[in-house]
Amino acid sequence: MAIQISRMAKEDIPSAVEIIQKAFADDPYFLWVFDAKKFSKKRNAASITARCLWGINNGLFYVAKEVPSKQDDQKGSVEPPKEKQLPRIVGVAMWLPPHPPSEPESWYSWFQSWILTFRQILNNIRFLGHGGLNVKRYWIWKDCQSIAQNEIWNDTRGYYFCNVIAVADDMRKRGIGRKLVEIVTDQADKEGMKCYLESSKKVPNLDIYGRMGFEFVKEMECDDQGEVCKVSGYYYFHFDNGIPKYR
Ligand SMILES: CC(C)(COP(=O)(O)OP(=O)(O)OC[C@H]1O[C@@H](n2cnc3c(N)ncnc32)[C@H](O)[C@@H]1OP(=O)(O)O)[C@@H](O)C(=O)NCCC(=O)NCCS
Repeated sequence: MAIQISRMAKEDIPSAVEIIQKAFADDPYFLWVFDAKKFSKKRNAASITARCLWGINNGLFYVAKEVPSKQDDQKGSVEPPKEKQLPRIVGVAMWLPPHPPSEPESWYSWFQSWILTFRQILNNIRFLGHGGLNVKRYWIWKDCQSIAQNEIWNDTRGYYFCNVIAVADDMRKRGIGRKLVEIVTDQADKEGMKCYLESSKKVPNLDIYGRMGFEFVKEMECDDQGEVCKVSGYYYFHFDNGIPKYR
C-alpha cells in the first residue's frame, strides 16, 4: 500500500471526522474546552463536518489515503476481487492560507464565514445546544490565540497556519504526518512564506514537530478562573544546509 495526499473532498469528510475525534479524545485542549459529562459525539461530528465543508472552499484541507501500490497490483491474486476496495483515509490536516492582517477580509471570505456560522447555528438548533462545548472557554482560547499571534507573527504577509493534524493511531510513525505537513511547508518554501502551528499536547508533539523542522516559540495560558490549558505555538524554520533561514 502507498500513501497519497490529496485535497479533501466532500466524501472524505466522515472518515476525516472520525480520525480527528479519535486523535483528540485525550488532547489537553479538548478535555479543557468540553464538559465530559455533556459531550455529544454526534454534535461534535456535525461541527467538524461544517468546518470541513468550509475548509474545502477556503482552507488547505488535505487527507492522506492508503492506496494500493503498483507492486500490490502486480502481486495478482488468481481471482480478481469482487468489489474494488475504496482507499482508506488514514490522516487529515487542516491548514489555513496566509492572510496579511492589514488587509480586510474579501467579500467571498466574509460570505463563506457567514455560511459556516449559519451551519453551526443550525447544528445548535438540531442538537439543542453546543454538545458539551464550554463556550466561555472557547472564547478564552480564541482571545489568547489572537493575542499570541499578534505578538509573535511578525511577517506582514501572514502565515500558513496548521490548526489540526491527525493520523489514525494504527498508522502513526510511518511518515504520514510528515507528508501532510510537507505538502504545505514545501509550497511555503518555494514562495518564501512562513508557517506556524499550535498544539496543546507537548508530549510527544514537541519532539515530533522538532523532527519536522518546527521550533517551540510561545506558550499561551488559557485561564478560566484557575483552570488553565496551555497551548504551544511553533514556527517552522526553512532550513538551508542545516541553518534556519527565518527567525
Ligand atoms: C502528530 C501526528 C499527526 C504525527 O503523525 P505521524 O504520522 O505519526 O508522524 P510521522 O510518522 O510523519 O513522524 C514525524 C517524525 O516524528 C517522529 N515521531 C513520530 N511519533 C513520535 C513520538 N511518539 N515520539 C517521538 N517522535 C515521534 C518520527 O520518527 C518522525 O521523525 P523522522 O522522520 O525524523 O524519523 C500524530 O502523532 C497524531 O495524530 N497525534 C494526535 C493528534 C495531535 O496531537 N495532533 C497535533 C495537534 S493539532
